[in-house]
Amino acid sequence: MHELRRPLTILNSYGQLLSAGMLGALPETAIVAIEGITASTEMMVRMVNALAELARLEDPDDHLALEVMDAEDVVAEAIEHVAMEAKLRESPISSECEHGMTIKGDRRRLILALTNLLGNAVKHGPTGSPIEVMAAREGGSVRFTVRDHGAGFPVADTGHLFDKYFRSVAERQRKVPGSGLGLYIVRTVAERHGGTVAARSVPGSGAEFDMTIPLHREERGA
Ligand SMILES: Nc1ncnc2c1ncn2[C@@H]1O[C@H](COP(=O)(O)OP(=O)(O)OP(=O)(O)O)[C@@H](O)[C@H]1O
Ligand SMILES: [Mg+2]
Repeated sequence: MHELRRPLTILNSYGQLLSAGMLGALPETAIVAIEGITASTEMMVRMVNALAELARLEDPDDHLALEVMDAEDVVAEAIEHVAMEAKLRESPISSECEHGMTIKGDRRRLILALTNLLGNAVKHGPTGSPIEVMAAREGGSVRFTVRDHGAGFPVADTGHLFDKYFRSVAERQRKVPGSGLGLYIVRTVAERHGGTVAARSVPGSGAEFDMTIPLHREERGA
């Protein structure tokens, strides 16, 4: 997997050089073709990264890099990761977090999971519609919720969204790029922390995704 990144990076660099005209002037048709190639290599890089992350998450010898952190920081960092994409799609992200909730977990992976949920809200929601992210105490856990105001998903898909490689028929028809690994990664990260995931949709008025992660033991008073 790792070996795939190098040739992809090289393809990407040459593509950028060519389309910037740095290796000589090219006809417009060639530039369009090269931009298609660079966009595809970027997509492949994202897929390779997702597959590599998944291989580690599914490895029985893999350990979580545990540390104690504030749930609010996870939210803030995940928002930062999608800020540019959200800005491009003119989708403002607002957050509402209960203070003082600590969790013990793999910081990078928890941020990745929440970033995947936010990335979906940006990607699958319509341009210009707001996204909300919440973190609240629920029993002995923190419940992270991401809500968008897009088309939602068909009720029949609810039980399959978190499956490996699942993408809705509509998504495939609309040719929205994606691998169907994002939500599977969210579920695997949540489950490896002893947490859960859930999804709700109000077709036509939006989708809501939850990830619950147990609170740090000291905080639960155990
Ligand atoms: N916010 C959302 N609104 C509507 N449908 C969604 C939303 N998030 C996910 N889905 C549906 O669930 C499917 C699986 O999501 P997932 O994140 O696993 O894959 P993806 O976004 O298509 O690709 P990737 O995340 O790998 O780039 C999506 O293809 C889409 O059909
Ligand atoms: Mg996704």
